[in-house]
Amino acid sequence: MFNIDFIETEVLIIGCGIAGASTAMEAAKSGLKVTVVTKYSKLEESNTYYAQGGIVSLGKGDRPELLKKDILETGDKINNPEAVEILAKEGKKCVEEILIKELKIPFTRTSPDSLDYAQEAAHSRRRILHVKDTTGKTIEEKFIAKLKSFSNVTILSDFTVVDLLTTPHHSKNPSSFYQKPRCIGAYVLNNQTRKVLKVFSAYTVLATGGCGAVYLYTSNPRGAIGDGYAMAYQAGARIVNMEYIQFHPTSLFHRDADSFLISETVRGEGARLKTKEGFTFMENYNQKREMAPRDEVTRAIYEEMTNSSSNYVMLDLASYTKIDIKKRFPNIYQTCLKYGIDITRESIPVVPAAHYCCGGILVDTWGRTTLNNLYAVGEVACTGVHGANRLASTSLLEGLVWGVRAAKDIASIFSPKKNYRVSDIHDWYYPNKEEEIDPALINQDWLSIRNTMWNYTGIIRTNKRLERARADLDYMQHRIDRFYKEARMDSKVVGLKHGIQVAMLINHAARNNLISRGAHYIKP
Ligand code: SIN
Repeated sequence: MFNIDFIETEVLIIGCGIAGASTAMEAAKSGLKVTVVTKYSKLEESNTYYAQGGIVSLGKGDRPELLKKDILETGDKINNPEAVEILAKEGKKCVEEILIKELKIPFTRTSPDSLDYAQEAAHSRRRILHVKDTTGKTIEEKFIAKLKSFSNVTILSDFTVVDLLTTPHHSKNPSSFYQKPRCIGAYVLNNQTRKVLKVFSAYTVLATGGCGAVYLYTSNPRGAIGDGYAMAYQAGARIVNMEYIQFHPTSLFHRDADSFLISETVRGEGARLKTKEGFTFMENYNQKREMAPRDEVTRAIYEEMTNSSSNYVMLDLASYTKIDIKKRFPNIYQTCLKYGIDITRESIPVVPAAHYCCGGILVDTWGRTTLNNLYAVGEVACTGVHGANRLASTSLLEGLVWGVRAAKDIASIFSPKKNYRVSDIHDWYYPNKEEEIDPALINQDWLSIRNTMWNYTGIIRTNKRLERARADLDYMQHRIDRFYKEARMDSKVVGLKHGIQVAMLINHAARNNLISRGAHYIKP
């Protein structure tokens, strides 16, 4: 297959977390020929895999209106009310039909007939379904197993999407300029052969997840560099609200622990934040204390850290809970123990980390972007559900609901008619003299991007910091672009090009919004 330079499919899905996988599953059920591409060699690798807390549903005595109210309040009421309504109304049904009935996710129960609902910050009641503290991993593994059972689904793992294919942009045919721009697939790099394949598709769905890894500290896996935002931007789709980067208050602070989240459900079970000296402090910031919206908790921690010149604060669960910690949080317990911290007896050193992008590629209620035939679902999309800040545990649900919606929409309008000829589309251009990449250069560029974003476009922003970041990122982008044109194709080079673009998008949005709101905070 990989000596050929193109393939054709009906639906191309880029990314394989809950959003991509649910789109793929629904599209496959309608009989469409689906191709899923993931840059990872391990199919399950995605932000979804690392989600600990859970997925929002409706708890006992709960109603969609109550969930809607909490989402709007957390989002500082700049959410899209129509999208919030859809999530609140359709969410529970999707969870029951797809996750519980079809995929048989073994959600934690209090008894054989009752599901256990966890509490997280800014939720007015307990409504988070979870599989202990490995909810995302369990969901992801079941989805992948299911996708493998469809004969009309092809999964290409270890393939990096380089660019979206669009007409007229990639067309050699001058008459294509009279047609509306549209997405016809993607240029996809085979990470093994380092050759670029054209994947043509009637519909393309971006489900590439978020971009936390453009920051120094993040709860996301290191691959979450925002490929989808960068490619959609290059292709001309509209991107909005990128300044609203949500920082999770508590990731494990340890020299050897890269991006390990300490779930908010730990605070939901009573854990208190303390200074290194052992004093609680959240009561000085918000009467909801540890259960205040996470942007407020994050800023309080940041302030405490700054005032005491400390790199972390402590999270104490052991002194405040009666639950069986090992049983409720086996993953967090085991991971902390690996680093020498016994959370049943001692406090956990924690630091805030970039966690979730509330903005993204603007989509409608069916996941359609502003570019024809291109859809976006999950974190990379901005449905407007989250507004300026995301309510905890709504992201898996949003990915699921919009994944299903996008697939249904595609199936209902699908037509195999093409308005281009494959031979009219440019092959990938390889430079005459391809330069081998020097990993030291890539590492240094990433360090610069991540530090610049953390310090100058991070939790607390000022005009001066943002301006400084713009100048530094601008220079880096110029250098990376030049390097990209000459380098031998490689997923690391592609990642760097996408990463710097995403950093620029976040910085640009932050500089252009002088109003502090939700996750975007500008100190006057
Ligand atoms: C957590 O478990 O704290 C993360 C949940 C989320 O961000 O939705």
